[in-house]
Amino acid sequence: MDALECLRTRRAIRKYSQEPIAREILEEIIDVARLAPSANNRQAWDFIVVTNKEKLKALAEAADWGRHIADAAACVAVIVQPSTFAREDGATAATYVMLAARAHGVGSCWVAGDPSPFANRVKEILGVPASLHLSALIPLGYPAEEPHPDKRPLRSVLHWERYHA
Ligand SMILES: Cc1cc2nc3c(=O)[nH]c(=O)nc-3n(C[C@H](O)[C@H](O)[C@H](O)COP(=O)(O)O)c2cc1C
Repeated sequence: MDALECLRTRRAIRKYSQEPIAREILEEIIDVARLAPSANNRQAWDFIVVTNKEKLKALAEAADWGRHIADAAACVAVIVQPSTFAREDGATAATYVMLAARAHGVGSCWVAGDPSPFANRVKEILGVPASLHLSALIPLGYPAEEPHPDKRPLRSVLHWERYHA
C-alpha cells in the first residue's frame, strides 16, 4: 500500500478479529512512531505496548470511551514528558502509530488520554508517573469492521490564499 492510500483508508476500528499481531510488526510500528516530528526534535516520548489480556481488560474498564481495548490484540500507550508542545508531540506520535499500523493492515482507534478523568487510573495500571502526559491509548487489532464515517468534502475545508467564510 502506498503512503497516500494508507492515509486515505485509515479509519477508527473498534471491532477486531482474534488474530494476534506478530511481535515484529508491533516493534516496527513503534520504530516508525519514534521517527515522528517533535518540537525542537525533543522526542520526549515513550511507548508502552500491552498485549497481556488481563491488562487490556483493565485498561478497557478504566477508560470510559475505550471499552473496545478489551478485544484488541495490543494497545499502545503514548506517554510524553511535559513541555510547551507536549500535546502536539504526543498527538503526532500517536498518529504515526495508527498510520504504521494501517500500513500493516492493522486497525486502530485513538482512545483519549489526558485530560480525561480516567487518565490517572490508566497511568497507575501502566506504572506511569502521574507527572507524565498520557497522549493516547491506541488499541490495535486486525479489523472486523469497515466503517465509513462522514468526512467534510474538500471544497468545504480548502481555502486558497485567505480564509473565506
Ligand atoms: C483526540 C482524539 C480523541 C479520540 N478519543 C476517542 C475515544 O476516546 N474513544 C473512541 O472510541 N474514539 C476516539 N477517537 C476516534 C474518533 O472518534 C475518530 O477518529 C473519528 O470519529 C473519525 O473517524 P476516523 O478515525 O475513522 O476517520 C478520538 C480521536 C481523536 C483524534
